[in-house]
Amino acid sequence: MTKKIALVTGGSKGIGRAIATRLANDGALVAVHYGSDEEAAKDTVAAIEANGGQAFAVQATLGVDGDAATLVDRLSAELRERTGEVALDILVNNAATGAGSITTATPEDFDRVFAVNVKAPFFLVQRLLPVLRDGGRIVNISSGDTRIALPFELAYSMTKGALDVFTRTLAQELGQRGITVNAVAPGPTPTERTAHMFADERMRAGTAGASALRRVADPADIADVVAFLASADSRWVTGQVVDATGGTFLGPAGV
Ligand SMILES: NC(=O)c1ccc[n+]([C@@H]2O[C@H](COP(=O)([O-])OP(=O)(O)OC[C@H]3O[C@@H](n4cnc5c(N)ncnc54)[C@H](OP(=O)(O)O)[C@@H]3O)[C@@H](O)[C@H]2O)c1
Repeated sequence: MTKKIALVTGGSKGIGRAIATRLANDGALVAVHYGSDEEAAKDTVAAIEANGGQAFAVQATLGVDGDAATLVDRLSAELRERTGEVALDILVNNAATGAGSITTATPEDFDRVFAVNVKAPFFLVQRLLPVLRDGGRIVNISSGDTRIALPFELAYSMTKGALDVFTRTLAQELGQRGITVNAVAPGPTPTERTAHMFADERMRAGTAGASALRRVADPADIADVVAFLASADSRWVTGQVVDATGGTFLGPAGV
């Protein structure tokens, strides 16, 4: 991926950090996007650089008016300074937030989760299309929740369903430019967002037991799949949602 330029939204933490790190290890210059935690973004960039990679942080709050324009303007300014041009090869729409269940989510929660998880990627792609190189890659981070019913995550799961439709339809539209669009659907993975789940040993064991591979995921498990879909090797794969849940809830265990 030498000479490739990638943007990973929410690249400062968790799965996004693992993706940013893997793409940088593969040789890409990576824009590590974050929302509010500048320290985490700086740490991620520093860790990438310590490993010989190239990265920079870019801040933009998603889910607010003008979010995509702000992110693209800041990204463009950084790229112009670092590379002398504004061009992108890989976009990973990873940043996301949660909402609640049918009984707890407020209309404001609902609007916010759709604004961050669906509207922001949609308009980010719209704004980046002129600078995304032909033959480029878009990878959307979906969720196993679109296959597995989890009532406490209902509104969030609905956003991921929308992202899957976005993936398939955008792939059809952008294929003529050689741009592939795919999604990766992780299962439960220990990150800041899910720390509360994995702090409970019984929950942790239950999560491992629900996976056909009988272990808990590592963010790198997801990042490696994204790296494939961001690479030249995936050139004949587009419009797909790749399940990266370690076979979570595939069927009854031990039958
Ligand atoms: N972890 C899981 O179990 C799991 C399972 C299935 C799917 N996924 C998906 O994997 C992706 C990453 O999840 P994660 O668990 O790694 O999340 P995480 O650890 O909470 O990290 C979220 C990242 O997104 C950024 N972000 C969140 N809301 C933002 C906003 N409104 N504006 C700007 N940036 C924002 C955060 O930046 P700041 O902290 O600076 O705001 C951070 O960099 C998400 O799409 C998630 O839906 C995760």
